[in-house]
Amino acid sequence: MRFLTKIILYFLRLLPAEISSKISLVSLELIFKISSFSSKYLDKENLKKEFFGLEFPNRVGLAAGLDKEGKYFVSLGQLGFGFVEVGTFTPLPQSGNEYPRLKRLKNRSLINRLGFNNPGIHSGIKNISSLKNKYKGIVGISIGKNKKTSNEQAYKDYLYCLKTAYEVADYIALNISSPNTENLRDLSSKNYLENLLSEINQEAIKLCSKHSKYTPLLLKISPDENEDLIPFIIDTSLKYNISGFIVSNTTYGEKENLKGGISGNLLKEKSIKMLKLVSKFNKKKAVIISSGGIMTKEDLNERYMLGADLFQIYTGFVYDGPKIIDELLSDS
Ligand SMILES: Cc1cc2nc3c(=O)[nH]c(=O)nc-3n(C[C@H](O)[C@H](O)[C@H](O)COP(=O)(O)O)c2cc1C
Repeated sequence: MRFLTKIILYFLRLLPAEISSKISLVSLELIFKISSFSSKYLDKENLKKEFFGLEFPNRVGLAAGLDKEGKYFVSLGQLGFGFVEVGTFTPLPQSGNEYPRLKRLKNRSLINRLGFNNPGIHSGIKNISSLKNKYKGIVGISIGKNKKTSNEQAYKDYLYCLKTAYEVADYIALNISSPNTENLRDLSSKNYLENLLSEINQEAIKLCSKHSKYTPLLLKISPDENEDLIPFIIDTSLKYNISGFIVSNTTYGEKENLKGGISGNLLKEKSIKMLKLVSKFNKKKAVIISSGGIMTKEDLNERYMLGADLFQIYTGFVYDGPKIIDELLSDS
């Protein structure tokens, strides 16, 4: 079955467009239904780590955006990921931007302008709830705003998603850094961030007592963020009980006639620069997840030295399939 899984995931490498990715996910899911495989990396005592009171089977996770529906995280996770971030979900379903919207680039990179295509938070949570007990790892849920919602009203979208996801999620990631929703990244500016995080914090306190459960909140940061704003973003986040930072999302650019978010090798340098800045001002107060161009064990080690506690991959997995999990988690 492991061999079959490898063959199926091989197609992720060939990814000419979203359809290949979808076929790979559906096939992987089918194989999982037949064989219920489970990676050794989910059971190794020496790899386990605790963050925000949650036990992570290991430090390597799958970044948001591959399972946008909450249907595939179990089979993906059971390949060996210590955590899987599902979504990004918005209050209402969205079809996303027009095609083509995902391309492979040279140098093991991707460009996408998907634009939060997702079935809406209610469907997403329904899917996740019905499957969650089959996965041994941690499930993060990424939330965002609908395209049509103005930045002035955006906090309402985040509150709506927060309420819907709070009980089911192991952690919630606030995605204010996707380059594919117009003006979304302005939410980290002084005009919006304080109000957004204050509203979210007030609601989270209520939800914590209502559900007798604490769900940590993380903020996902753009690699294109204005460097001068980083101290403000970190201080405001810590003031409103943000428990972690995901550094970073994709970087905005134009390649092969597509304007969108660039990931993989071409993102590496910017992601590292942002990690250094966030580590400096965070002063080890919140947990840091490094995401962006982690393609090898050397990349992972470098991020660890720069202050990252956990690691997420996306593009490396698309290019290499499950063998990248082996490489990142092996002892060497
Ligand atoms: C096709 C695609 C879709 C993505 N969708 C999302 C998303 O919905 N939410 C999000 O927070 N990040 C999304 N991302 C960003 C990834 O989660 C990750 O942060 C980024 O790709 C950098 O990691 P990588 O270089 O290992 O790919 C997406 C990335 C790609 C390539």
